[in-house]
Formats: sequence, structure tokens, C-alpha cells
Amino acid sequence: MEFTTIKGFKDILPEEVVNWQVIESKSRSLFASFGFQEIKTPLMEKNKIFSRSIGEDTDIVSKEMYSLKDSKGHLLTLRPEATASVVRAYIQHRLYENYPVQKLFSIGPMFRHERPQKGRFRQFYQINAEMFGDPGPKSDAETIALAIYLFESLGLEELRLHINSLGCVECRPRFREKLNRYLIDKRDLLCTDCRRRSETNPLRVFDCKLETCKRVVSDAPSVMDFLCKPCRDHFESLQAYLKSLGIAFILNHRLVRGLDYYTRTTFEIQTDRLGAQNAVAGGGRYDGLVKLLGGPDHPAIGFAIGVERLVSLLLEDGGSKRRKPDLFIAALSEKSQDTCFTWAHSLRKSGMWVEMDYGLKGLKAQMKKAGRLGAKRVLIVGEDELTSGKGILRDMEAKSQEEVGLDNIVADLNNLNTIKDNNGTE
Ligand code: HAM
Repeated sequence: MEFTTIKGFKDILPEEVVNWQVIESKSRSLFASFGFQEIKTPLMEKNKIFSRSIGEDTDIVSKEMYSLKDSKGHLLTLRPEATASVVRAYIQHRLYENYPVQKLFSIGPMFRHERPQKGRFRQFYQINAEMFGDPGPKSDAETIALAIYLFESLGLEELRLHINSLGCVECRPRFREKLNRYLIDKRDLLCTDCRRRSETNPLRVFDCKLETCKRVVSDAPSVMDFLCKPCRDHFESLQAYLKSLGIAFILNHRLVRGLDYYTRTTFEIQTDRLGAQNAVAGGGRYDGLVKLLGGPDHPAIGFAIGVERLVSLLLEDGGSKRRKPDLFIAALSEKSQDTCFTWAHSLRKSGMWVEMDYGLKGLKAQMKKAGRLGAKRVLIVGEDELTSGKGILRDMEAKSQEEVGLDNIVADLNNLNTIKDNNGTE
């Protein structure tokens, strides 16, 4: 085949889209209860926004961004994540002037040139939430709870929440220095990338996937031993608030996450069901980023959920079923087809999914088509039915049929549909 999708990019076909729609609608209603408003930012931004926010020494910035120069020589990048763009918008439009606490969500595609594998794509979707303006641990607990409730509302409960604190500008440098010294001692055991990272950005060594480097960091100093009092208090309060909400968590002092902007709380929601790509959501506090990008010194916290990974979990559990037509109208003559054509449109306007075949095929062929589409009912109308004013309505699930008057057929079919809907039988 000459034209297929690019490696790491995929089509989301109608069968799967149903699950995406369920996820989106549940997210939107939960975001509304938590006071989050939707924001849409461009897919492409100035490169510097990402390199400065995420960090030059991260895998995302150093290897994975899709960047291009435009005709004026400006370096532009397809967004690898949403946070930096949302922060840019927060500053550019002075969103902080409207509300002291701004809560923003977005849903859309991100781009990272990673090696594709199960659960890892080069274009993937994130549901992204960011809360600006409150520095306290209640906001951390609220943000984490929102992510957890979203998974729960989709029937996914066997997930594990990992939390950590990375300290702040006061205490992190002490940890960094200690880690740097530890890693220099173990230099010979590290891969080439980690040797460099141990000097430039030692926390990034925790991200390395190589077993040899993982062994080295397993004995590395713990960030917990270096937290200053305010960071320790913050982290302890967060744990208390999570407990008060009945949210279980695992303390994971090696959780640094792949982006440099985090301060204090970081968290990840993981599953055992997706192989190596086990994180379905990740996030944390980034109190210095708004200032770093030229805005006021406002604290913030957020997370992103990987939609493809979430959909995989739902599909493993059976997934949502595709919607089926409420009615198929089998018109058996040209004249009856003209009349049925107008009925079909009135019914569609009132919300019913109605299908017809315009090919003037015989009853058998039309019934076959209705069956293939999974139509719940079929209305059969030929020349004789039009004359007598009585058609046949077949219930495809009960496999029964009855005669129906055609004088008020649009209203009657609408009523029938509403009654079934209200009874929850369809
Ligand atoms: P992240 O951990 O890079 O965080 O991505 C969040 C989630 O996106 C991951 O847990 C995963 O489910 C999904 N994801 C990441 N890369 C891929 C990929 N190549 N293919 C499929 N899914 C993927 C962030 O992006 C931060 N901006 C989150 C955040 C928001 N922190 C604060 N606010």
C-alpha cells in the first residue's frame, strides 16, 4: 500500500472512538464539578517555550521534539506536552487577573519522537489539568483526587498512585550536590548519557531505563533526607489529606518524572496491565515555572493522562459498545420511499438515529442490511401499506412484529423511542 500512516501515528477507528467519547464526556463532567474550564492552545509553539520549561537535558527536549524552521528561520516545535503552552497562555492573556485560582483543562494530541511500542506513540493524546494560584497541599490532594476519580468513574480501580516530593529551590540543591558526589563515585558503572547527566542534571539519572544505571540509583541518597521543614510539612499534609479522602498511595522516593519543572509534589498513576509503558497519568507541582516563563511568581500543579493507555485498559475490560440505529425504514416502492424520506428526516431532527436504503432493493435485501447495521426496529412501508394507512413495525431484538397506523407515525415512533429510553432498556 502506497499511503499509510506515519510510524508511531495511528488512526482511531469508529469502533474505538466510542471509548474516547465516553472518556471525554466523563472527564468534562468531572472537570466541571471541580471548577476547571477548557482551554485550547495551538499544536505548534516557539521552540524555546518547551526547551526552557521542560529542561534542555531531558529526553523530551534533547531527543524527542518535532521541530522545524519556518521561512523566516524561526524554530518552531509541535507540542510534546501541554503544560508549557498552558502556562504561556496564562501569562500572555493575564488569566490570573480574572480569578485568584485558575483551573484549566485541555484534551488534545501531543508529539514526541520516541521509539514506538505498545502504549507508546509519536502522536498521542493527553487529558491535561492545570491549577494555578494556590501553593498549599490541599490543592495537591484535590488535583490527585480528580485524576483518581476520573479513573474510578470509568470503572478502573486497580491502579497504583505513587507520590514523591522533590523539594524546592531551598533544599533541592543540597540533595543534588549529594547525588552528584554519589554518582561521580560510581561513574564507571553508568552509561555514557548518565555520566554526562550526573554532572549537568543528576536527578535525570533516575529516569534511565538501563539495568546497570537502575542498580546504581537503587542505593543512591534519598531526597527525603534533604527536604527542608516547609517541604516536609507540605508532603506530610498532602499524605494526611489523601488519607482523609480514602485515596491509597505508595511513597516512591525515586519518582523524579521526565520533566525538569517540578517542585515538591510529583505523582504517577500506574498499572500492571500495560507492560513497560505502565504510567497512565503523571503530574506534580511546578511552583517556579510561571515566573521562569516571564509571568508573576504564581504556584501551580497539574497532571496529564495518556488517553491511548486509558483506552487500552477500557478495551481489555470489554470497552463501550458502538451505538446502533434506532430505526431502519424499509421502503418498498418509489412513492413510499419519497414519503418515508420525509419521515426519516423528521425523526432524525428529534434525535433518533434513522437509516434507509435509497436503492429500491427488495424486502429481503433491506432486512439483511438492517440486520447488519444492528437496527433496533424496522418500519416496512410499501405501496399497499401507504394505501391502507397501516405499516409493519418489526422489533429486531424481540424478533416480533405488529401492524402500526401510519397517520401519526412520526409522533408514535418518537414516543415509542422515548418510552424505551426512559425504561433504560436500550
Ligand atoms: P508525562 O509523564 O510526560 O507528563 O505524560 C503524561 C502521560 O502521557 C503519561 O503518563 C502517559 O500516560 C502519556 N504519554 C506520555 N508519552 C506518551 C507516548 N509517547 N505515547 C503514549 N502516551 C504517552 C506530562 O506530559 C506533563 N505535562 C504532565 C503535567 C501536567 N504535569 C503537570 N501538569
